[in-house]
Amino acid sequence: MRTLVLGANGRLGSNVVTAALDRGWEVRGTVRSEPDTAPVPLDRLDVRDGDRAAALLDDHAPDAVVNCTAMVDVDGCETEPERAHAVNAEAPGVLASACADREISFVHVSTDYVFDGRDGAPYDESAEPNPLQVYGESKLAGERAVRESDADALVGRLSFVYGTHGFTGELTGFPVWVRDRLAAGESVPLFTDQHVTPSRAGQAASTLMDLADAGERGLFHVAGRSCLTPYEFGHLLAERMGVDPGLVEEGAMDDIDREAPRPRDTCLDVSRLESALGRPQPTTEEDLAAIGDALEPGETADDGS
Ligand SMILES: NC(=O)c1ccc[n+]([C@@H]2O[C@H](COP(=O)([O-])OP(=O)(O)OC[C@H]3O[C@@H](n4cnc5c(N)ncnc54)[C@H](OP(=O)(O)O)[C@@H]3O)[C@@H](O)[C@H]2O)c1
Repeated sequence: MRTLVLGANGRLGSNVVTAALDRGWEVRGTVRSEPDTAPVPLDRLDVRDGDRAAALLDDHAPDAVVNCTAMVDVDGCETEPERAHAVNAEAPGVLASACADREISFVHVSTDYVFDGRDGAPYDESAEPNPLQVYGESKLAGERAVRESDADALVGRLSFVYGTHGFTGELTGFPVWVRDRLAAGESVPLFTDQHVTPSRAGQAASTLMDLADAGERGLFHVAGRSCLTPYEFGHLLAERMGVDPGLVEEGAMDDIDREAPRPRDTCLDVSRLESALGRPQPTTEEDLAAIGDALEPGETADDGS
């Protein structure tokens, strides 16, 4: 399988590259900015440049494209809505159509922030989206543009993505800040009034490749099976690190003044995915065990996932 990963140096993208290489697939990637190291050939691509994207598809003739690009800065999307819509909404539709024209399958990534989080969690794939902020609106428009193209498409909605970088093994996302403060003996205030189903990047990447390989198409929720608060997540991190969980303190979403509102409970129901693959998704404890080495300050994980 010839695979082209867009956004190959990102948190998820680097893990998709690794997961595809692990399957023996031929992999290339695109990046917007230069990575320090990469195990596959890379081209430059800003996904807002549809002509350049089409030319790369013609040059490399992949069997599948995996789109891991997005403007993920939720507050930045609120202050730069045109850019958010160009990257998260318009570009996925253009890419999906270009893939459809060339009979290339298209894997796209979306978010739990398409939901308002007011009630209805855990959300399954049939639940009605109602995003609260520009990020969620733009990602939902991107999902719809992909669906309205004629592409042979798989869309995975992820949630609260963390893990290790696929190339460097370095810890990324929320746990870095928590790990470093705990290791320094500093207290960490974490929300008790938000619920999420964390997606470990390496696990989500591998699951997306499993779904694609199994010929699954349509919409899937791709997250771990634990629905928990950031405060509970922080406790699990402290236990894993063997430090005093008392350093994890109770916080509330309203304690922080941010540009974009956040949904309170966007836990995802992953049963469609579990049925399709015939296996359970991991709990957060199992996911943290898989990257245990990277939770040591200054360390990286052995498996790079
Ligand atoms: N992070 C989360 O908590 C979370 C939660 C749910 C869903 N998701 C979804 O998961 C997917 C992957 O996100 P991630 O967590 O891996 O974030 P990430 O590490 O920030 O990766 C996003 C990638 O998109 C690239 N990118 C941004 N604008 C671009 C443009 N105009 N053209 C080309 N590339 C561009 C970035 O490259 P540069 O760095 O060079 O700009 C980066 O490599 C996204 O679809 C996101 O919406 C993320």
